[in-house]
Amino acid sequence: APVPRLATPLALRSVTLRNPVVISPMCQYSAVDGMAGEWHRVHLGRFAMGGAGLVIVEATAVTEQGRITPGDLGLWDDRHVGPLRGIAAMLRELGAVPGIQLGHAGRKASTQRPWQGHGPLGAEDAARGEPPWPVVSASPLPVADGWPTPHQLDRDGLAAIVEAWRTATLRALDAGFEVVELHCAHGYLLHQFLSPLSNTRSDGYGGDVAGRCRFPLEVARAVRGAWPDDKPMFVRISATDWIEGGWTLEDSVVFARDLKALGVDVIDCSSGGMVGVSATAAAVPRHPGFQVPFAETIRREAGIATMAVGLILDGPQAEAILRDGRADLVAIGREALVDPNWPLRARQQLTGDGDFDGWPEQAGWWLGRRARTLDRKTP
Ligand code: FNR
Repeated sequence: APVPRLATPLALRSVTLRNPVVISPMCQYSAVDGMAGEWHRVHLGRFAMGGAGLVIVEATAVTEQGRITPGDLGLWDDRHVGPLRGIAAMLRELGAVPGIQLGHAGRKASTQRPWQGHGPLGAEDAARGEPPWPVVSASPLPVADGWPTPHQLDRDGLAAIVEAWRTATLRALDAGFEVVELHCAHGYLLHQFLSPLSNTRSDGYGGDVAGRCRFPLEVARAVRGAWPDDKPMFVRISATDWIEGGWTLEDSVVFARDLKALGVDVIDCSSGGMVGVSATAAAVPRHPGFQVPFAETIRREAGIATMAVGLILDGPQAEAILRDGRADLVAIGREALVDPNWPLRARQQLTGDGDFDGWPEQAGWWLGRRARTLDRKTP
């Protein structure tokens, strides 16, 4: 039988993934003062044991103000590097390429952890030691009613954020990561510049698509400049706001072409997040593979490698996405929370049950014997 695409190595610049299955960045909101701890080590390490080609560490804040919640990871200070260096080394030892997503939440900063309300931090949070902080954005437009009005970034503010992204990128490199992903999606700061719904500036950083792309492109250029030429850079975008009058797939194609021209290797194609924080804020038709058409269109129209993500549930579905040339990589989020062995299981669904080849021997040796025992007992 032919080797599944899910089990075929993929080279990006000088970095080779053992397969194109990626663990999508997933915030754990479990850091203290931006520092990674044991929770992050186990959470991420288990995905590497489970066979993923690339494991991307959750959105990591480039400034303290840029954290979504008080529990976000950070790389705004040199002291954050140590624990992340341990994680990158551990992921590599377990066979996965270590990646990290760098983000800034903009007007969606200073919020409660999802399970603590998912709203803006307030007096009750302050009383338990997590006070709100001022938020910034492209324009002084709140996320929704009842949310804080962000301070509009001026030229100095923009320059400081570019510099924060540049230094965080250097720290990510120092920590040993091999893939860096720029977070331009889900209604966070860079998406707030892209979308006409959150950017009403008239100073050259707003207006038409080119104006709205300008600041995200400046940040992308700074990250690319700080990241070595032999290492790949990804950009995650929300390919559409799913809202009339918002950012569109057409705009995403234009943006992807510009990103490609400045040396970005992969567009990671998500969507939504522009208004509110709940799944019902925009009319998103969530069904298996609902965002795959974005990866397919951007790949074709902008001529750049893409990563598909969103309700990719099983091996045959993921294999078809890759085989049909709809995306170059597939990212798995919640399914990997259900089963960190998702990459190994997905491959097994394609090669036949009972085949535990390629599993870590510490488990695979036993599981192969167990499968043969069960086979013999089958009438
Ligand atoms: C996420 N998601 C996400 N996306 C992102 O770009 N940066 C992040 O840090 C996070 N954090 C995060 C935490 C948790 C717990 C979940 C479930 C999701 C979105 C995630 O990467 C992915 O795009 C979506 O979950 C859709 O893929 P699945 O889960 O349908 O495979």
